[in-house]
This record gives sequence, structure tokens and C-alpha cells, in this order.
Amino acid sequence: MEKLVIQGGTPLEGDVVIGGAKNAVLPLLAATLLADGKMTIKNVPRLRDVYTTIKLLEGMGVTVEVDDDFNITTDASTINSYVAPYELVKTMRASILVLGPTLARYGESEVSLPGGCAIGSRPVNIHLSGLEAMGADITVHEGFIRARAKRLRGARYVMEKVTVTGTENLLMAAVLAEGTTILENSAREPEVTDLADCLNAMGAKISGAGTSTITVEGVERLKGIEYSVCPDRIETGTFLAGAAITGGHVRTLKADPAALDSVLQKFRDAGAYVQTGADWIDLDMRGRTLKAVDITTDPYPGFPTDMQAQFMAMNAFSQGIGVVVETIFENRMMHVAELMRMGANIRLEGNTAIVAGMPDLYGAPVMATDLRASASLILAGLAANGKTVVDRIYHTDRGYEKIEERLQHLGANIERVNT
Ligand code: UD1
Repeated sequence: MEKLVIQGGTPLEGDVVIGGAKNAVLPLLAATLLADGKMTIKNVPRLRDVYTTIKLLEGMGVTVEVDDDFNITTDASTINSYVAPYELVKTMRASILVLGPTLARYGESEVSLPGGCAIGSRPVNIHLSGLEAMGADITVHEGFIRARAKRLRGARYVMEKVTVTGTENLLMAAVLAEGTTILENSAREPEVTDLADCLNAMGAKISGAGTSTITVEGVERLKGIEYSVCPDRIETGTFLAGAAITGGHVRTLKADPAALDSVLQKFRDAGAYVQTGADWIDLDMRGRTLKAVDITTDPYPGFPTDMQAQFMAMNAFSQGIGVVVETIFENRMMHVAELMRMGANIRLEGNTAIVAGMPDLYGAPVMATDLRASASLILAGLAANGKTVVDRIYHTDRGYEKIEERLQHLGANIERVNT
């Protein structure tokens, strides 16, 4: 089993180039199912979830070519199956993203029902009822979602909750539907806008992406294009948190500062000196005192749930008391118990964590329970006294490319071991 071994105490210093966004590339790869002809996705991060998506597309018969720069070219004309099997869905819930485009283009789709996961039950009812509103016939049988529709028709649909992949699924279905679809209470995340930009470049007629009302005029077909994935705002925030928690100085390059407004504000509140340019963010914590901050997660443009665990780790090392409230997922506090094993002073009341900052935490063996929890433990290990061993880092590899190499480049004492 691979683990990360970290000797804490070295401030991170230097530049790090940010990769393409995991949460953008997964819907973009699903969108290639809609293209007539070949389609190429560029700036793709080498992540476990991307390899899983390639496997999923290949399993459906799609021809997938990956070049030396990890640009991914797909040709869906060879498709011969409309099924996303349990073996893949269970390792990556985002497999549900093939449901909308496969149904819209081929008239049928079968996706294994994603079960619960570590951070909560995570239902897909909104994906399904939105497709039903567009005329799909949907049944759930023997653990599979089966969807059929000769041609979807446009509809006005109000999502009862803001859902990122739900919005993306319905968007990818609506682009080939007959007539106009209006998606109300849509997610406004930058990754949704990235998908809409890509679909529009393929010939779709989408307006309002990035707002809560998205309007789609259905078209007959979409063409294959080349498209480059937007920067990963969560990876960016995680490296900046590394500088903040270790008292260092990190500049993230090829980043998108505009997508991180709420996070950068919290870094400033925490005492960091933050500067931004068109595509870079510089966070300097040298000689400054880390202060605890209150965080409440919210859909974009609010504070992202995917940065909650990293700020929890920062608060654990700060001066003062910070209250962290998780409102998106029901069970996304599992890093708390692990941080407490390192000496963190945290009181958990349901989905609220009251964190009293400590001057020193000590290294310990800890276990990652999900992707962003793993990031918080790595951050804590970088700042703690002594040795931290982070177990179950397959979670980390789902969302961070070569994390140890890039942290080493910033001066961290971290290595991957196989025991
Ligand atoms: C996406 C991101 C994930 C991020 C999350 C919230 C991807 C691949 N993953 O996940 O990193 O943490 O957004 O920003 O983009 N819900 C329902 N019914 C549904 C769908 C969702 O009740 O049909 C609920 C969920 O249980 C959750 C909330 O809505 O409580 C938001 O979830 P959602 O935005 O759908 O998360 P994902 O798209 O799975």
C-alpha cells in the first residue's frame, strides 16, 4: 500500500504550475460522446479519475487516443455499448456524467446507480427527474439506471438543490433536445461554465452559464473540436494553503484567480499577503501570523466544500478560534478525527467544527478517508513537528497529480513509499 511520509517544519517556497481541473475534465470527456467526428481535450491532468473515465469510454466502444502530452482524442463513432458498469461507477461517482450525453445522442443509457460514498449518501434524483422532465423514460432496476428517449424535448426544470454534476448532465442532455430547455437553480461553478463554453464551441446554443438560469436551444448535431481544460481552482487553493500553513511563499502559475475570490478573501482574513495577476496567484506568509477564520461552505461563488478540509488544517495551526460549517455534504468531517490524532484541538457538533488553533502539532500516522481529507492531512503533516505518515493516498491520486514531486519542488520533505 502506498503512503506519503512527511517530515514537517519546512516552509514551502517557490512556483508551482497548476494543472487542468479534475471537475472540468470529467464532464468534458463525457461531452465528447456528443461530438460528430474526433474531439481532442487538452491540458488534461494525469489523475486516477481521468484514467477511470478513459476506461469507461473505451468500455463503451469509443476510440480513445492519448498522446505524449496527455492530450486525449476520442472518436465516438465506434460506440457499441451505452452502459457504465458498477466496477467503474463504484470507484468514480462522476461516471454518472455519461448518462445525459449518451441518452441525448443514442436514445438510451444504462448507468450503475452510484451508492453512498465516504462523504455522504449523494443521491442522483435531480439528474433523473430533470431527464424525465425532458421526456426520458427512466427505471431503476437491479442497481442500474435505465434511461430511454427517442429524442429528448426541451423543458423548463427547476433543480430543487444546486447540483454541479446534475446541472452538467442536464446541460449535456439539453444540447441535442428538441426545442428550448431552461434550467433553473443551476450550479454556477466555473467547471459548469467551462463545459458550456466547450459545448458552444461544438455548435451548441447555450446562454446564461455561470448564472443560475441556463437556457439551451437544442440543435441537431455537434461537431468535434479541440478544447483546453480550465485550471484547477481546488488544486490552486491547496498549494496556497501549503504556503499559509507552513509560513512560506508560493506562487501558483497557469491559475485562474477569478475562480477563487471567496477562497482568496479567506486567505487574506487568515493573515496572508495575497497578490494576483491575470493567471497567477502569489501567497506570502513569511513573518506573518496565521489567524483562525470562520468558514461556511456554499455553492459557487460561496466558499467551496472542496477547500473546507484544507482550511480546517490551517485553523488547527492558527491563532484564535475558527468555526467551520459544512452545508453541502452530510458527512464531510472525517479529517477532524485524524487531525486530532496530530494534536489538533477541534470540537465537532454535527456539521460544525470549532477549531482552537494550537502553536504546535506533532506528526502521527493518519489515514485519508476521501480526496480533500487527504489534502488536509498532507498540509497538516507539512506544518507539524516530526514525521507524519498518510495512508490510503489513492484518494489523493484521484485529484492531485504527482503531489509529492510538486511539493518536493517547493522544498517539502515528503516521499512516497510502498509498504
Ligand atoms: C461536485 C464535485 C465535487 C464537489 C461538489 C460540490 C465533480 C466531479 N465533483 O460533486 O468535487 O464537492 O460538486 O461542490 O464535479 N444532491 C441531491 N440530489 C442530486 C444531486 C445532488 O440531493 O440528484 C445533493 C448532494 O447530496 C449534495 C448536494 O446536492 O448534498 C451537492 O452535490 P453536487 O453538487 O451534486 O455534487 P457532485 O456534483 O456530486
